[in-house]
Amino acid sequence: MVRSIGADHVIDYTQEDFTHHEHRYDLILDNVMNHSLSDCRRALTADGTLILNNGTGGGRWIGTLGRMGLAFVLSRFIRQRVRLAGLPSNEDLPVLKERIEAGEMRPVVDRTYPLSQTAEALRYLGSGHARGKVIIAV
Ligand SMILES: NC(=O)c1ccc[n+]([C@@H]2O[C@H](COP(=O)([O-])OP(=O)(O)OC[C@H]3O[C@@H](n4cnc5c(N)ncnc54)[C@H](OP(=O)(O)O)[C@@H]3O)[C@@H](O)[C@H]2O)c1
Repeated sequence: MVRSIGADHVIDYTQEDFTHHEHRYDLILDNVMNHSLSDCRRALTADGTLILNNGTGGGRWIGTLGRMGLAFVLSRFIRQRVRLAGLPSNEDLPVLKERIEAGEMRPVVDRTYPLSQTAEALRYLGSGHARGKVIIAV
């Protein structure tokens, strides 16, 4: 699935830990947040950027407020940048629509549930293994 949306190289997290590779990355978007900040920084180039998504759930290393504070403080002392992913806004939607219509982005829809099965949809999302979006059809 990840290759089908444009990835050139894929690391299977069940087999390898990307923070233990020799490879250094200019940009890491951490969607899962199950590595320590120091592990992520080690995988970055000297002036690379780490973007933290708003991870939730078990194994994630620090609460949202703590992450914001840490990102703010660290950014003043190190060359690497630590940022929080912005919240989606209404202004983003037309940009996303244009990119999707131009074929530059392909949304991945895993499952679609009827409104009456919203609880089941949320349980599935909460499993931590939904691939892309879970849709409630209204
Ligand atoms: N969904 C939203 O509307 C929304 C809104 C704001 C922020 N976010 C944030 O965006 C991030 C992604 O959310 P999500 O809704 O897509 O659900 P999610 O449950 O965080 O992501 C599920 C996906 O992550 C993969 N995954 C699980 N553990 C992994 C690991 N250790 N390393 C790499 N991949 C792993 C799963 O693949 P496998 O099945 O192969 O394990 C599955 O494809 C989260 O941090 C969430 O808090 C989501």
